[in-house]
Amino acid sequence: MEVSLKVGIAGTGRMGAAIAERLLARSHELTVWNRTAEKTRGLAAAGASVAATPQELATKADVVITMLTDAAAIDATYRGARGLLAGDVRGRLFIDMSTVRPEVEKALAASVKAKGAALIECPVGGTVGPARDGKLFGFVGGEPADVSRARPLLDDMCRRVEHVGPIGTGASVKLAINLPLLVYYQALGEALSLCRSVGVDPARLIDIFADSSGGPNMLKVRGPAIAATLQGKETAPVTFDVDLIRKDLRTMLEEAAALGVELPLTANALARYDEAARDGIGASDATMLPAHWLRRSRK
Ligand SMILES: NC(=O)c1ccc[n+]([C@@H]2O[C@H](COP(=O)([O-])OP(=O)(O)OC[C@H]3O[C@@H](n4cnc5c(N)ncnc54)[C@H](OP(=O)(O)O)[C@@H]3O)[C@@H](O)[C@H]2O)c1
Repeated sequence: MEVSLKVGIAGTGRMGAAIAERLLARSHELTVWNRTAEKTRGLAAAGASVAATPQELATKADVVITMLTDAAAIDATYRGARGLLAGDVRGRLFIDMSTVRPEVEKALAASVKAKGAALIECPVGGTVGPARDGKLFGFVGGEPADVSRARPLLDDMCRRVEHVGPIGTGASVKLAINLPLLVYYQALGEALSLCRSVGVDPARLIDIFADSSGGPNMLKVRGPAIAATLQGKETAPVTFDVDLIRKDLRTMLEEAAALGVELPLTANALARYDEAARDGIGASDATMLPAHWLRRSRK
């Protein structure tokens, strides 16, 4: 059964905007807010209302979704003077979908609860295309009753929703899942440097990787974009940039330090991507990384 809700989205960057498009297509009554107002224009034209402040957004919506870069963005958007929690938000449900540390979600849940509202986290697997198509994978943490309340909306956004435990557990699982994926881009660049003398067309080579144990699931979807960059062609539209990867890897290393575990591969991958950013590709899509490594490592 289709349920139409009054939904607010704070943070209409690449992911937030794609989710907003999806929720409009599912006939929800949508209000959006973004720090940089011009990023809400396309959504306004598509039928969303635009709030002037996060505080206004939270008063207009029953459920508020946030999709923000990091802990600092969450702090500013929720706890700022005109933030989401500045007004009377009793009874509201907040869903944070940002990729951050578990501690950030736990502290946020406490701030939200102190205002008489509830928070669940739902960081996601999948990028802009799956977000637009409602095909994300949601890693949910929160109280069961709050998760049940959010369920119709989560099902509109995600192909699969896994409620893994209380608040913070979704963030832990999301960080863990991104680790092998993000290390893989560097691993692929290094693997290709071993076989570039074979002379096979990059598109065919990437297809071989994708169909073998040399490729994760991601390669089946992003393989053609990676092959294009290897052929020196235009990169795909930016959906997950190198700087955001660096933010995720730093977040994993901070979490590991807090847990007292070592992540040597992760630390090394971050050092490589820091170099790539210094080479000027921080704002480029992640699919650029293997081609960049090949260029960099060529003697
Ligand atoms: N891209 C992906 O494929 C992907 C996939 C899964 C999860 N994620 C996660 O989803 C989150 C958003 O990613 P994205 O790709 O949508 O990034 P993005 O396009 O860079 O959007 C980031 C959003 O955060 C806002 N923001 C940043 N700092 C802020 C601050 N101090 N105060 C208020 N708002 C602030 C930005 O506002 P402005 O427009 O004003 O800068 C923008 O709305 C991140 O946690 C990312 O790790 C991304």
